[in-house]
Amino acid sequence: MKKVEAIVKPSKLKAIQKGLIDANIPCMTVVPVRGAGLQQGYSEIYRGTEKSLILLPKVMIICVVSDENLEKCIDVILDNASEGNTGDGKIFIYDVQDAIRIRTRTRGVEAIK
Ligand SMILES: Nc1ncnc2c1ncn2[C@@H]1O[C@H](COP(=O)(O)OP(=O)(O)OP(=O)(O)O)[C@@H](O)[C@H]1O
Ligand SMILES: [Mg+2]
Repeated sequence: MKKVEAIVKPSKLKAIQKGLIDANIPCMTVVPVRGAGLQQGYSEIYRGTEKSLILLPKVMIICVVSDENLEKCIDVILDNASEGNTGDGKIFIYDVQDAIRIRTRTRGVEAIK
């Protein structure tokens, strides 16, 4: 199992969510976040804020997927998040040790199906 953590522009959330559902990856957690990448927000204008302290609003989409679904999940995010511009976002991928569905106590990959 892998945890996919995608930090993207808020305007891309709906399309990514729809794409994931269509790809049969419906389980996700979405968190509003603020962040800075390489440009520290320089390329996207914010009035009245010291440039080096700019944190732009982004959304973090978290999906825990089977190894089998990993590339599909990444493709959906890339296809829907990319404008080819700075600030399009970033994807981090982690190994997941275990998952437990509380209702059934099911563990492992069965818990994320
Ligand atoms: N190394 C990192 N660690 C933690 N969060 C990061 C990291 N890189 C990017 N982020 C998060 O991802 C968001 C989007 O990053 P962004 O797309 O600007 O990356 P970038 O490396 O600057 O690439 P680009 O040059 O295409 O803009 C940031 O606002 C921040 O929240
Ligand atoms: Mg950037």
